[in-house]
Formats: sequence, structure tokens, C-alpha cells
Amino acid sequence: MTSAQNIPQHVAIIMDGNGRWATARGLSRTEGHRKGAEAARHVVTSAGELGIPYLTLFAFSSENWNRPADEVSDLMSLLRYYLKKETAELHKNGARIRVIGDRAALPLDIVKLIENAESLTRDNAKITVVLALNYGGRQDIVFAAKELARQVKAGETDIARIDENSFSRHMMTGDIPDPDLMIRTSGESRISNFLLWQMAYAELYFTDTLWPDFSKKDLERAVAFFAGRERRYGGISAQSHGVQG
Ligand code: IPE
Ligand code: IPE
Ligand code: MG
Repeated sequence: MTSAQNIPQHVAIIMDGNGRWATARGLSRTEGHRKGAEAARHVVTSAGELGIPYLTLFAFSSENWNRPADEVSDLMSLLRYYLKKETAELHKNGARIRVIGDRAALPLDIVKLIENAESLTRDNAKITVVLALNYGGRQDIVFAAKELARQVKAGETDIARIDENSFSRHMMTGDIPDPDLMIRTSGESRISNFLLWQMAYAELYFTDTLWPDFSKKDLERAVAFFAGRERRYGGISAQSHGVQG
């Protein structure tokens, strides 16, 4: 069992393996994405039940535009469908919706749906669901650097005042705590340009489960893994303190 104090404050998930899930069943990749979106819906509910206050879902990376146009367009349609269908329900359940990533490149009607979802749910406090859409970790860092450079140039801040805290505040996750636990499904053990800056001290959990199969049980397993980790942040083990050498 994991006690409340071992519940990660922020879980970030790379939802990978929709395509392989579909291919293994002789279905289209889009069918896999559809199942994947359902899994995402369930994981939001499960995270709420487990008392996880921040959940970030990597739904579309800044590199996913490299996919065939048909697949990109199907992914956008799914996104549109779920933003329309789920926003009211999430709001009712006390979820605050936030979107990170370069939304300027998304279809305009989707940008409107995002703005609507964010403003409707802005005061909700049960869980914050962060959707990473057209998100890239490097891009996030570059945007923050550019904004700070602009402020210095405009005389609004001083180079000497730029530090890790001010930099963090200018990331797209500015007011969101760094992830404690990062989960990636589908057996890949890479970060794929996800929250590079923010994951400096995240515990990393990789599972072979393909995203459409990811259930509450899998989330509980990841949370239990997290509860068993000792985070040292460059220090030494708590057990080593006070032990004579
Ligand atoms: C993750 O599943 C969904 C997105 C990246 C949008 P994939 O589509 O990457 O599935 P695989 O990796 O091809 O199996
Ligand atoms: C990462 O998955 C992006 C999302 C899950 C949205 P990818 O399937 O795009 O990553 P790579 O290409 O295998 O690194
Ligand atoms: Mg993939």
C-alpha cells in the first residue's frame, strides 16, 4: 500500500504504443488512437481517485507532424471530438484543464476549444490535467530563453536576476510543480523531447504495456514503484545520516 504522502504530486505520461496496439489486431492506426484516447479518459479518472493533483498527458509532440498527413488529421479530429465531448464532464468533476505546447500551429477551431476549456475550468482545484499538444521540451526551453531575452532588452529585468526559479516560471509549465513521476508505455525507454527541463529529478517508469491497454492497475503499479524510491537530489541516503563511518 502507498500512503498519501507517497502519492506523486505530478505524474507525466508519454502515452505511446497506439499504433502497435492497432497493428497487432489488424486495425488501422487511427483505431489505436481512438482506443488510446479512451485510455486517457480513464486515466484522468483514476488519477483523481488516487489523489494525484497534477497529471500531464503527452498527446502530440512537436515532431509528430512528421507523420503521414492522414494520421495527423485523424489525431486532430480525435482531439477536437474529445475537447468538445469531455470538457463539461471534466469541469463537473472539478478538473482544471491546461494546455502546453505551441498552439499557434494547431487548427484555429481547436485553439478556440482549448481556450474555452481553460477558461471554463480555471478555478477548479481537484486535479489539474495538463495536455501537451504540439509540445517539445527543447522548444519550451527556447521560448523561455527568448522571453527572458526580450525582458532584458526591454529593461524589464536584469541578466543577474535570471536564475533557475525565474527560468522555471517562464516555462510553459510556469505555475505547475515539476513532475515527480514520468511514465512511458510501450517498452520504449526514451524521453522523446518531453518535459526536458522539468524532469530533472523525476523518477522514470517504463512499462511494456501499450497505451490503449493502460488501466488503473498499471497506474497503481507505477505509483507503487514511485513510493519505493528514495529521492536524494544529489544528497546522500537518509539511512546514511548518523551512521558512523
Ligand atoms: C502514441 O502512439 C500516440 C501519439 C504519438 C500521438 P503511437 O502512434 O506513437 O504508437 P506507436 O509507437 O506507433 O505504436
Ligand atoms: C512520443 O511518442 C510522443 C507522444 C506520445 C505524443 P512518439 O511515438 O512520437 O515517440 P518516438 O518517435 O517513438 O520517439
Ligand atoms: Mg510511438
